[in-house]
Amino acid sequence: MKDVIDHRDTRREYIAGELRRRDLDADPVRQFSRWLDEAHANDAVDATALSLATATKDGRPSVRIVLLKHFDREGFCWYTDKRSPAGQQITENPWAEMMFFWSGLDRQVRIHGRVKDLPDEDAEAYYRKRPFGSRISALASQQSAVIPDRDYLEKTARDLETRYADGEVPRNTAWGGYRLIPEVIEFWQGRPNRLHDRFRYRREGDEWIIERLSP
Ligand SMILES: Cc1cc2nc3c(=O)[nH]c(=O)nc-3n(C[C@H](O)[C@H](O)[C@H](O)COP(=O)(O)O)c2cc1C
Repeated sequence: MKDVIDHRDTRREYIAGELRRRDLDADPVRQFSRWLDEAHANDAVDATALSLATATKDGRPSVRIVLLKHFDREGFCWYTDKRSPAGQQITENPWAEMMFFWSGLDRQVRIHGRVKDLPDEDAEAYYRKRPFGSRISALASQQSAVIPDRDYLEKTARDLETRYADGEVPRNTAWGGYRLIPEVIEFWQGRPNRLHDRFRYRREGDEWIIERLSP
């Protein structure tokens, strides 16, 4: 490896489209829904994948990808093992931010707000929709815990497969869902020469205020 790996000349122009004030829906959740549909139509790989940033109560951040599973005006929902660092951070500090990047469309969306637990019924309902193998893996793994090796993981999963061969894999109650309730949603559309379009929706009471941001 060279001493310095230099990407200062790695660049491309963002020319996929533009975003004008008159194109925006008054409702940012509908606007998001439209962009997610367009990302799917554009064959974005893992269009529902989002980077989720959380922080400890003293402000140390961490970020990871999770998959958006459903959303509505109440918020944006995903599922996880709540014993993991993300879960622990949400318990001590409910503020989080989600970020979607759809590179084929030169688009980014950021959603900022507070996180709340989804009710257990939602976790149960979605858990039951998951394939047998995913339910076994959720039960076999305490997410983010240190384990000795791959064999340990596979043996745990195999044992559970035998035990629950009838397909009725119980849900660990630590496995569940969260909802991020949006307070700020920003839509970013890449434009030539880095003169990008950015619009931010900010919640004020029951209203959404829309402002254009400098790139
Ligand atoms: C494409 C992709 C999708 C993922 N989806 C999820 C998910 O929906 N839920 C989840 O808990 N982890 C998911 N992960 C794993 C997380 O990125 C992360 O490893 C895990 O949540 C533990 O994070 P933590 O230790 O910061 O809590 C996904 C990773 C990738 C790359």
